[in-house]
Amino acid sequence: MPDVTFKVYRGDAKGGKAVEYAVPISPGMVVLDAIHYIQGYLSPDLAVRWNCKAAKCGSCSAEVNGKPALMCKSRLDSLPIDKPITVYPMKTFPLIKDLVCDVSWNFEVNKKIPPYQPIEKKPKIFQDDVDRVQEFRKCIECFLCQDVCHVLREHEKKAEFVGPRFFVRLAGLEMHPNDGADRSEFMKNTAGIGWCNITKCCTEVCPEEIHITDNAIIPLKERVADRFFDPVRWFFRKLFGTK
Ligand code: SF4
Ligand code: SF4
Ligand code: FES
Repeated sequence: MPDVTFKVYRGDAKGGKAVEYAVPISPGMVVLDAIHYIQGYLSPDLAVRWNCKAAKCGSCSAEVNGKPALMCKSRLDSLPIDKPITVYPMKTFPLIKDLVCDVSWNFEVNKKIPPYQPIEKKPKIFQDDVDRVQEFRKCIECFLCQDVCHVLREHEKKAEFVGPRFFVRLAGLEMHPNDGADRSEFMKNTAGIGWCNITKCCTEVCPEEIHITDNAIIPLKERVADRFFDPVRWFFRKLFGTK
């Protein structure tokens, strides 16, 4: 098989540029294999983060031909190899070196989320309730959804908006049948759910195929709207003290 050209970003916080490498390919290869070839034979100081090579650890996130993707899940037979394949780091997070970004902002956001708060009188749980929450627990924290979201990427609203990954986490807590916490105010004022205009770009890049917008963000938006803008529900809450 012919060599394929990879244009890989090389640089750090101060700047850098894409460098071309010719990589011999074989059937079944993924982009991460090519990056490992470059590290092994052409440029041993190329920095890349990876771990499982099975699309389960969320470490090898990058932008392949301009699209946020896991390098270990990006098969070369799904890409046009007659042209150079570009591999860039995620743009939304500060660059450390080459393909490695500093994603620690996400871990700080995670700490702010009001945790699971068990209710005393547990209801009967149906399979549908389990399935609903299970979808959100598939998240591998690759942060590709955070990378693609224009609110963080273009508008840099990291101080006001937690991003789709954390609406997935919030949905998993809010829809847990045994959870009693009220996170509406957090979702409106701290998480900034109002900034999301449901473009669905996050859903398109999720390697776990979580329906981020339809199953997490839209129901959470509805909860916030009910809590703050529905006068009938407001009246009943005042009367009965419900969530
Ligand atoms: S749907 Fe919302 S959270 Fe997802 S990418 Fe669009 S603006 Fe961001
Ligand atoms: S929701 Fe999907 S895209 Fe976002 S961090 Fe989790 S697995 Fe990655
Ligand atoms: S190496 Fe683990 S997700 Fe790619």
